[in-house]
Amino acid sequence: MSQAYLNGQYLPVEECRIPALDRGFIFGDAIYELIPVYSAQPFQLQAHLTRLQRSLAQVRISNPHSEYDWQQIISQLIANANLDQCSIYIQVTRGVAARDHAYPTAATPTVFAMVNPWPKQDEMMLSQGLSAVTVEDMRWNRCDIKVTSLLANVMMKQHAIDAQAHEAIFIRDNAVLEGSSTNVFVVSKEHVYTAPKNNLVLPGITRDVVVDLVHACNMPMHEEAVRMEDLINADEIWLTSSTKECLPVTQLNQQPVGNAQPGKLWHTVYTAFQALKSP
Ligand SMILES: Cc1ncc(COP(=O)(O)O)c(C=O)c1O
Repeated sequence: MSQAYLNGQYLPVEECRIPALDRGFIFGDAIYELIPVYSAQPFQLQAHLTRLQRSLAQVRISNPHSEYDWQQIISQLIANANLDQCSIYIQVTRGVAARDHAYPTAATPTVFAMVNPWPKQDEMMLSQGLSAVTVEDMRWNRCDIKVTSLLANVMMKQHAIDAQAHEAIFIRDNAVLEGSSTNVFVVSKEHVYTAPKNNLVLPGITRDVVVDLVHACNMPMHEEAVRMEDLINADEIWLTSSTKECLPVTQLNQQPVGNAQPGKLWHTVYTAFQALKSP
């Protein structure tokens, strides 16, 4: 049973009960974070807590905990689960109130967190890479806020699976934005590109780590608009996220990417990532 935390109590996730009028359930009025844990230590914790605070502020939910409190909750969950490698999911909803779109004046945020085992990266994905399909972005204009209302992402992920692919990459006005739960990097002529941080992409924590690693590996890194044709003609494509780390895409829309093998630059950055997470 996964270990969880709900409004001050540690308990198995199966015993967590949320009232039906919780706005997280009724409106998807909630913010979340997912933090990877290596060797029983949360990875990039400060960056995740900063993004959590930013997302909450953007939708005017007051952060129910100080950074110190969050650290305590996360440490306790890791200790209770007794897992070295796991992930921590945190969700804060606006709380319980009579159903009305307007923000309630007096609701107490609901705080839910759980720890999940997290298997090591699939060797096949590392050696052969992933497949992806492109889809028209039909999401809203605030993809920079980590909200739980992810129905468009869920639908597009299923679209990818139905097409025997691992991930769907969102395209809007010919711009390559991000995957359904990943950021996207493109390599062309030994230069690395990823979409700039703005309202159309989630500011991924792993994205930032990978941007820094690309710089550290002395590769030219460009945070600028990537066009659909750049993606199609890419030498390499990488997907990054807290659970995927940095994975190569070797097939796009049923066509090979580069030579259809995980690329040379990806290998360098992936190796640097592994060194960073287990110093
Ligand atoms: C839409 C989207 N983009 C990017 C990411 C990657 O973000 P991170 O590296 O912080 O996990 C996620 C992760 O859930 C996501 O949902």
